[in-house]
Amino acid sequence: MLKHAVLPPYLLFFPLHPSLPGAGASSVVPFSQQRQWRRQRRQNNRDNNNKVRRAVSSLLEQPTIVIESTRVTGLLTIGGVFEPMETTQSGESLYRPALQLILLSDDLDQRGWWKKTEAALCYPKNVIGSITYEVSFSVPVNFGEIGAVVVRNELDTELFLNDIVLTIDGDNSLPLLFDCKSWLHSTSVRVFFSSNKSYLPSKTPAGLVGLRQHELHIMRGPGTGERKKFERIYDYDVYNDLGNPDSDPGLARPVLEDLVVVSDRKSEQRSATVYVPRDEGFSKVKQETLGSVVHNLLPSVETALVDSQMGFPSFTAIDELFNQGLPLPLQDTTHTFRTIVPRLVKATTASAKNVLRFEQPEMIDRDKFSWLKDEEFSRQTLAGFNPLSIQLVAEFPLVSKLDPSIYGSPESLITAELIEREIKGVMTVDEALEQKKLFILDYHDLLLPFVHKVRELEDSTLYASRTLFFLSPESTLLPIAIELTRPASPKQPQWRQVFTPCWDATGAWLWRLAKAHVAVHDSGYHQLVSHWLRTHCCVEPYVIATNRQLSQMHPIYRLMHPYFRYTMEINAFARETLINANGIIEQTFSLGKYSMELSSAAYDKLWRFDMEALPADLIRRGMAVEDPEAEHGLRLTIDDYPYAQDGLLIWSAIEQWVADYVGHYYPSPADVAADSELQSWWTEVRTKGHADKQHEPWWPSLNTQADLVRILTTIIWVASGHHAAVNFGQYPFAGYFPNRPSIARAKMPVEDAKEDDLAAFQKKPEAALLRCFPSVIQATKVMATLDVLSDHSPDEEYLGKDAEAAWRKNPVVYAAFERFNCRLREIEAIIEGRNADPTLKNRCGAGIVPYQLLRPFSEPGVTGMGVPNSISI
Ligand SMILES: [Fe+2]
Repeated sequence: MLKHAVLPPYLLFFPLHPSLPGAGASSVVPFSQQRQWRRQRRQNNRDNNNKVRRAVSSLLEQPTIVIESTRVTGLLTIGGVFEPMETTQSGESLYRPALQLILLSDDLDQRGWWKKTEAALCYPKNVIGSITYEVSFSVPVNFGEIGAVVVRNELDTELFLNDIVLTIDGDNSLPLLFDCKSWLHSTSVRVFFSSNKSYLPSKTPAGLVGLRQHELHIMRGPGTGERKKFERIYDYDVYNDLGNPDSDPGLARPVLEDLVVVSDRKSEQRSATVYVPRDEGFSKVKQETLGSVVHNLLPSVETALVDSQMGFPSFTAIDELFNQGLPLPLQDTTHTFRTIVPRLVKATTASAKNVLRFEQPEMIDRDKFSWLKDEEFSRQTLAGFNPLSIQLVAEFPLVSKLDPSIYGSPESLITAELIEREIKGVMTVDEALEQKKLFILDYHDLLLPFVHKVRELEDSTLYASRTLFFLSPESTLLPIAIELTRPASPKQPQWRQVFTPCWDATGAWLWRLAKAHVAVHDSGYHQLVSHWLRTHCCVEPYVIATNRQLSQMHPIYRLMHPYFRYTMEINAFARETLINANGIIEQTFSLGKYSMELSSAAYDKLWRFDMEALPADLIRRGMAVEDPEAEHGLRLTIDDYPYAQDGLLIWSAIEQWVADYVGHYYPSPADVAADSELQSWWTEVRTKGHADKQHEPWWPSLNTQADLVRILTTIIWVASGHHAAVNFGQYPFAGYFPNRPSIARAKMPVEDAKEDDLAAFQKKPEAALLRCFPSVIQATKVMATLDVLSDHSPDEEYLGKDAEAAWRKNPVVYAAFERFNCRLREIEAIIEGRNADPTLKNRCGAGIVPYQLLRPFSEPGVTGMGVPNSISI
C-alpha cells in the first residue's frame, strides 16, 4: 500500500504538470493527491487559457529570495577505491557538474501540491581533498521553509555527500544545513531533510509527509531478493551464514535463529562479502587496518609457523614475541604492514625482513609476574576486561540447576568446612553470607553441557568451573577455592576436584593450573558473551529497527544515530572472519566449533533487555542494592568495584542527557504514546529484532517519557560504556596471553592421572602449564587480533565529545549536550583522582594498572581508555 501512497523522489525531476516558466519555482503534486490533480487538470484544460496565464502572471510578480553559496561537500570514489577526485588522471572530470539539486518547501501550495525549485546543476568549486560544489537558487518569498533537498548524482560513480549548506540572501549567520553523510550511487536520486528541525510524525509539515513515508519505505526494502552493495535497505535475517558446508562438510554449522540453535534449517550459501547498507560502511583508515591484519598478516603468520600444534617450549620463548618478534615470510605486501599496523609489524635491522613483534602490555611492564598472583587474578574480576561475571553468593550450598540424571550430583564440593578452613575461621559461612563476604565466578552450568563435545575436538579440553572469593576488609577479593568438573559420559564417570591456595609445591602448582583453566573460561565468556553477544550482537537489531521505523527527521533517530556508527559493518566483518566456521574464534578459543552455540545458550538463558541497564545488572548479580540515599540510588556491595563505580558515573551522565533530550520533544506521556513511528520502532525491536523473546514479561513498556529515557539510556550504555569496558582492555589484559589464555589444551595432571603423567608433572610442572597454554600460532593470532580490536582509530568518535549537526541547530538540545560534555570532562577528572587514591586498592597500588577503561576520552591507538559512541570495533 505504502509504495502507491507517496511520490518517488526521482519524479520530482520530471514535472507532473506543466511547469510555470520563469517563476524559479514550480509545484508537483503528491502521488496520493494525483487523482484529484488529474481531475483538476482536465478542468483547467476545459477552462480558457487566461486562467493559466493569470496564475503565471501572479507568480512572476512575486519577489524572490536568492539562495546563494549553496555549498555541497562530498568525496568521490573512483573504481571502488576511496580516493579524492584530484588524484584521478582525468582533468575533465574535475569540473563537470556532478549533482542536480532541487529544493522543496516544507509546505504545500493552496492546491495541496508540492512547492519545489527548478533543478539546478552543481559545479565543483574546490577539488582539493573533499570536493565543494556551489549552486544558486531563486525562490519566491511565499515558498515557505525549505524542508528538504532532492539530489541526483549525475556521475557514473558513487559519491559520498557530506553536507549541503544553504545561505539565504547572503546571510552566513543562519545557514540551513542538510547533514547528509551518505553515499549516492551513480545516477541515484535521494532526499535529505533539513537538519535544522526534527519532527515527531504528527508534527511533520504537510510538504514533507509523503517524503517521510517514502524514505522509510525505501529503508525497509521489499523483504525479498538479494541485496546489492549500493543499497540502503535494512532488514533482519537469522545467523545462517556462519557455516560453509559447500566447501567442506566439516564446516557445517547449525542455524542460529534469533541466536537459538535451529537444527532443521539449512545454511545460507556463503558469499565473499556480507551485505551491509552502504552508509554503514567503514572509513578508509579503519577498513585498511582491519583488512590488513585479518586478510594478510594472520595468513602470513600461518605460513611462518608450519606446525599448528607447536607450543611454547619456555616462558623465554613467550617473551621473544615482545623482544625479537616472529620473522614473517617475504611478501610483496609486507612493506605495507609497517605503514598500516606499525604496532605489530616492524623491520629488522639485520635484513629486509619484517617481524611480527608485539608491544608489551602495560600490566607486564609494571609487574612482569602480576599474572601469576592471586591478588591480581581476583582484582581483574572487578577491574579487568571482564568485570561482568563476578557475583555475590546469595545462597549456600552452591547447587547446579542442570538435570542430575545427565550431569551428576548438583551440589558443589565446595563445602562450608572447606570455606571456613580457607578463611582461617574468621567467621562461619553463615556469617560470611550474612555480611556479603562470599563472591563467585560461576562457569558451571553454562559450560558443563559443552565439556564432552569440546573434549572430542583436536587439541582442546574443557571443564566447568566454580571459583569462590572472600572479601577482605580492604575491599579486595581473595580466591579461596576452584572446583573443576567433568560430567559423566558413557565412557567415563564424573570427575571433579576442588583446588585451593597451597603452601606445598605440588598443591601450589595445581592451584596455578586450576587458575589457568578458570582464566580460559573467563576469557571465553568474555569474548562470546560479555563482548560479542551482549554488545555487538544484541545491539544490531536496534540499529536495524531504528533505520526501518524512525524517519531521519525523527528526533529519536537523530539522537540514536551516532551510537550505532559502524556497528553493522564490524558485525559483518566478524561474520566474515571472526565467528564464522573455522574463523579466528573457532581456531583459538576453547569452545572451538561450539563457540556460537555457547553464545546462543547464554542468550537463551541469561539475556534480558531490562538487565542490560547497568544498575539492574549490578543488582541482579548482587553487586549493588537500591538505596535512595546513595549516589545514583545504588549502594555497591564492594565499594571499590572500579567498573561499577566508573560505569555508574557514565550511566548517570547518559541518563541525564537522554532525559533532557526526551523532555524537550515529548512534553507529556501522551506524546510518547501517540508517536506512531516510535511505537512501531519499539514493537519491532521486540518482535523482530529479538523475536524469540518477544513474549517475555520483562520487556519495558513504552508509555511515558521515563520509559523512553530508560530504554534509550540502556541502549546507549551498552553501545558505549559497556562495550568500551569489555573491548579496549582486550590487548592490555590478554596481550600477554598467560594472563588470560584463550584455550586450554591439556587437562589437569591429576585428572584420571597415570603414573607417568604425574611423574612428568612432578619433574617439571612448568611444562604442564606451557602445554595447557595456546599453541604458538593460536597465541600470536589472538594477540594480533586483540591488538587491532583494542585500537582506537584516528577517526574515533567519543561519547559526548562532539555534537551532531542537528543537535547544534536546536538551542535547548545543544545546551543539554554541552552539559553532557561538561559532565564527561568532570568524570574524566574523577576517574583520574580515583586512580591516584591509595585507599582504592583495586585500582591503585604497586605494579597495578589503573582502571582507565571508562575514562571517556582517548588518543588514537591501544590506550586502554576512551569510551566511543558506538560499537565500531
Ligand atoms: Fe568490540
